[in-house]
Amino acid sequence: MSGFSAEWLALREPVDAASRNGELTTQLLNWRQQFNTLSVLDLASGTGANARFLAPMLGGEQHWRLIDHDPKLLAQSARLPLTACWRIERHCLDLVSAKESLDFQNIHLVTASALIDLVSAEWLEWLAQHCRKAQAAIFIALSYDGVLVWDPALKDDERVRAWVNRHQQTNKGFGPALGPLAAPEFKTMLERLNYRAELRPSPWQLGPEQIAMQTALLKGWVEAAREIAPGSTHWLNEWAAQRRSLIEQQDSRLTVGHWDLFAQP
Ligand SMILES: C[S@@+](CC[C@H](N)C(=O)[O-])C[C@H]1O[C@@H](n2cnc3c(N)ncnc32)[C@H](O)[C@@H]1O
Repeated sequence: MSGFSAEWLALREPVDAASRNGELTTQLLNWRQQFNTLSVLDLASGTGANARFLAPMLGGEQHWRLIDHDPKLLAQSARLPLTACWRIERHCLDLVSAKESLDFQNIHLVTASALIDLVSAEWLEWLAQHCRKAQAAIFIALSYDGVLVWDPALKDDERVRAWVNRHQQTNKGFGPALGPLAAPEFKTMLERLNYRAELRPSPWQLGPEQIAMQTALLKGWVEAAREIAPGSTHWLNEWAAQRRSLIEQQDSRLTVGHWDLFAQP
């Protein structure tokens, strides 16, 4: 996936919402009951999909601070349904170069969706330490776990998956990315800081009718594989053509594994 266009985020938003782990979301809701006004920091908020999902569910008075470095995406978070009970602030801020200006004080919940597979171990350790200092709970949704399963299967699926997963671990601006290892590593880091942390699966399960999403993913993965192995184009082009044809004929299903994580101090 090259960059994060508003179109791509809009395409994935309903799929993300349907894929989130119900058990962890319920745990979050139960934890929330101890606060009157809940203060939430949403990292790499994009157009606000995470808040659009969580805020109506969490209910009551809420104060959200949305952080992203892309002002165009942040501007689209105006689509958030505002109620009299919610105060929403937007901050255009780079989570690498300006991370020390993030204010964790009085934050009850640090959250993010589709972020931590992009970041390095060092950056995650920094986040864990700051959350711990603020005694904040952490809810991280939809971190890619390395699993891609196409149905029907093709001979070269595994080769492409391996390259996509290598691409996932290249630098996405936060240092060498943890990619599929991010969620389990973050859980371990948090447990070392005496958090009670749980991981639960939240896979995308795309049916044959989800043509646009499957097509966008296929395009992004072929680009990623080409970047990793620029010489091997012949079989990759054939594989991609077969996959495109199956998707167009509505004969393609795709599972993409993710983790949700909830940690309480
Ligand atoms: C996959 S999108 C997820 C967006 C949103 N959380 C969602 O679930 O739709 C990743 C987000 O990370 C943001 N991002 C990437 N690098 C960043 C950085 N260095 N500082 C702040 N935001 C960043 C992008 O602008 C994008 O909005």
